[in-house]
Amino acid sequence: MASFDLSGRTALVTGSSRGLGRAIVEGLAAAGARVIVNGVDAARIHSAVGELRAAGHNAEGVAFDVTSEASILAAFEKFDADGVRIDILVNNAGIQVRKPLVEFSTADWRRVIETNLTSAFVIGREAAKRMIARGHGKIINIGSLGSEMARPTVGPYTAAKGGVRNLTRAMAVEWAQHGIQANAIGPGYMLTDMNQALIENAEFNSWLMSRIPSKRWGKPDELVGAAVFLASPASDYVNGQIIYVDGGMSAAM
Ligand SMILES: NC(=O)c1ccc[n+]([C@@H]2O[C@H](COP(=O)([O-])OP(=O)(O)OC[C@H]3O[C@@H](n4cnc5c(N)ncnc54)[C@H](O)[C@@H]3O)[C@@H](O)[C@H]2O)c1
Repeated sequence: MASFDLSGRTALVTGSSRGLGRAIVEGLAAAGARVIVNGVDAARIHSAVGELRAAGHNAEGVAFDVTSEASILAAFEKFDADGVRIDILVNNAGIQVRKPLVEFSTADWRRVIETNLTSAFVIGREAAKRMIARGHGKIINIGSLGSEMARPTVGPYTAAKGGVRNLTRAMAVEWAQHGIQANAIGPGYMLTDMNQALIENAEFNSWLMSRIPSKRWGKPDELVGAAVFLASPASDYVNGQIIYVDGGMSAAM
């Protein structure tokens, strides 16, 4: 399984103190990577790093808000000063705001687009500059079923995640020649805090079970296989793709 081995690689996963990001850092660490946990809450990062280390993983933390360009630039300057090379970047941080489009304020629209889409561009650009200089790198953007289709009340999220799909393609076509692979994962309906309102909504659950071929929600650690694959040499000729991990939802009528 050498082509899936991440030993000697450093992975930065944004928004990774909980939820899908947390499952992804655990998976990348188990495959041998040194992982850097990110989020906005220093205490939550500290406890996640402690738990990862207690499990025998090589983990560090860095707090920055993915919507703050100044903080992102400062974090990468600190990586440079400390000799930290980001070989694998997972743009995972995201938020959801649910409202009908006619009730959406422009400020909320911008907040969703900035957090889910613009952050992947800015952090991706900073990581890619350094990856290009080294001649290799892996970028994994977290998309969604919303990268392909819409549901009522999540308009800006759908626009952002569609943008993530095409940003992934843009990264691939510009950076493939430098040994960088940029791909995306499109999770289906996963059991995380982001979906708490839907998980508790009986009407939504019965609609979901009628639509989803697997007849169940996904578990965060079910993203690990795709994440390790896209972070590892096993995917060195896979570029610009989005892999749906959705229990068959995007294949169903
Ligand atoms: N849960 C699902 O069903 C699902 C489905 C498809 C896609 N996704 C995507 O997966 C990603 C993770 O979602 P999740 O379900 O784990 O959600 P979550 O709310 O549990 O976790 C999101 C993480 O991002 C962090 N974050 C939010 N804003 C940030 C900011 N400005 N700067 C730094 N960190 C920030 C949060 O603190 C949190 O740790 C998101 O991009 C989401 O859109 C989730």
